[in-house]
Amino acid sequence: MQRFYINGGNQLNGEVKIQSGKNALLPILAGCILVDGIVELVNVPRYTDIDAMIEILEHLGAVVTWNDDNLIIDTRILSSHDVTIESAGKLRASIFTLGSILARMKLAKLAYPGGCNIGLRPIDLHINGMRMLGAKVNEKNGFIYANGSNMNGGDIVLDLPSVGATENIMMAGVLTKGTTRIFNPAKEPEIVDLQNFLNKCGAKISGAGSNLITIEGVKSLAKNIKYEAMPDRIVTGTLLIAGAMCGGKIVLKNVKAEHNQALIAKLAKSACQFDIKDDKIKIYRPARLKSFGEVETLPYPGIPTDLQAPIMALQAISEGTTILIENLFEARFKHVPELIKMGADIKFKGNVCIIRGKEKLYGAEVKACDLRGGAGLVLAGLAAEGYTTIGGIEYIDRGYYKFEEMLRTIGADIRREDC
Ligand code: UD1
Repeated sequence: MQRFYINGGNQLNGEVKIQSGKNALLPILAGCILVDGIVELVNVPRYTDIDAMIEILEHLGAVVTWNDDNLIIDTRILSSHDVTIESAGKLRASIFTLGSILARMKLAKLAYPGGCNIGLRPIDLHINGMRMLGAKVNEKNGFIYANGSNMNGGDIVLDLPSVGATENIMMAGVLTKGTTRIFNPAKEPEIVDLQNFLNKCGAKISGAGSNLITIEGVKSLAKNIKYEAMPDRIVTGTLLIAGAMCGGKIVLKNVKAEHNQALIAKLAKSACQFDIKDDKIKIYRPARLKSFGEVETLPYPGIPTDLQAPIMALQAISEGTTILIENLFEARFKHVPELIKMGADIKFKGNVCIIRGKEKLYGAEVKACDLRGGAGLVLAGLAAEGYTTIGGIEYIDRGYYKFEEMLRTIGADIRREDC
C-alpha cells in the first residue's frame, strides 16, 4: 500500500509534456484485436489500466512488448476469445474488446467489467449494439457469451451518446460485412482518434466527431503501422486546474487546446490568463480566483465528468458560490467528504453540489476512492496549507502516470511513500 505525502502551498512553474491519453489508448488497444499485423504505439505512458488491457490482449494470444515508451502489439495469431474474470474485473474498458473479439473471431466470452465504482455503469448499449448487428448475445453466470457468425452491418441509434458503446460498435462494424451506421454517437476526441487509428490500419470509417458515424465493413485489417494516440486531455485539464489553484506559470506542451475549450473558457472567466500557440498552453493566474457560479458535466464538447473532482477542488478555494451538477455518473461525489476534511464548505444532494469558496484549504489525512476523485484530492493537497496524505493512490495510478514525478518537475512538494 502506498500514499502521497504533500507539503502544500508551493507555486507551480515550468513545462510539462503531455503523453498519450488513457481513454484514447484503451480503445486503440482493443482495436488492435482487429489487426492481422503488428502495431507500434508511440509514447505510451504505463498507466496501470494499460497494463490491465495488455493482460487481456496477451490472454487472447497477442504478443506484446515494450521498447522504451513504445508498445508493440503483434495480433497476427490469436488463440482465445475469452476475457477472464480476473482481467475483466480490473477495468471497465475490458468491455471495449467485445466488438473487436466478435468481429475478428466470431465468438466471444467476456466476464463483466470492473473499474472505478462511480455509479451503475450499465453495458446495455454495448450489448444491444452487437445484437443490432446480428450477434447472438446471452448473459449468464457473470459472463457475456456472444456469437457473431451471422453479423451484418446495420443502423444503430444510441439512446445515449456513450463513449464506450460508440467505440465498441465502431470496432464491431470494421470487419462486419455491409455498412454500419451509428446515430447519436458520442463525439469525444478519443472517438476521432480511434477512427484515425483504425483507418490507418485499413478500415473505412467516416463521421467520427459528428452526429453520424458510418463504417463500411472490410475483410481484414492487415497492416503493420506506427501510431501515436492523442494527448491526454484529462491530464491536461487537471494540470490547468493545478496551475489555477497553485499560482505560478505552467506551460503544457504537446496538447490540443481545442480539446479543453470548455474548461479554458471557465478558467478565463475566473481570473486565469492563457497564451495558446501551436501545441502549447501557458496558464497563469494574476488575481484571486472567482468561482464558476454554475458548472455541469456534459458529453464533449462540454465540461468532462472526468474533471468534475478537480473542478470541485478549485471551486473550494475560489471566491463565491458554485452550483455543480454531475450529469454522467450517479456516484461520483466520493471525494466530497474528503475535501470537507480539508476545510471545504460543500453540501450535496443527488447529483448537485453547492460549494462555498473558502480562502484556504488545510492539509489532512484523506483517501482516494476513485481515479479522478483522487486527482481532485491531490490538487487540493497541493494548494492547501500544511501536510496532506492521500491513501488509495492505486486508483490515481490508473490514469496519471508517475503523477508525483510530473508534479515535482514543476515545483510541487509531493512524494510517494509506503504505508
Ligand atoms: C468513458 C471514459 C470515462 C468517462 C466517460 C464519460 C474511457 C476508458 N472511459 O467511459 O473516463 O468518464 O466515458 O465521458 O474512455 N451508459 C448506459 N449504458 C451503457 C453505457 C453507458 O446507460 O451501455 C451510461 C453511463 O451510465 C453514463 C453514460 O452512459 O451515465 C456515459 O457513459 P459512457 O460514455 O459509456 O462512459 P464509458 O465509456 O464507460
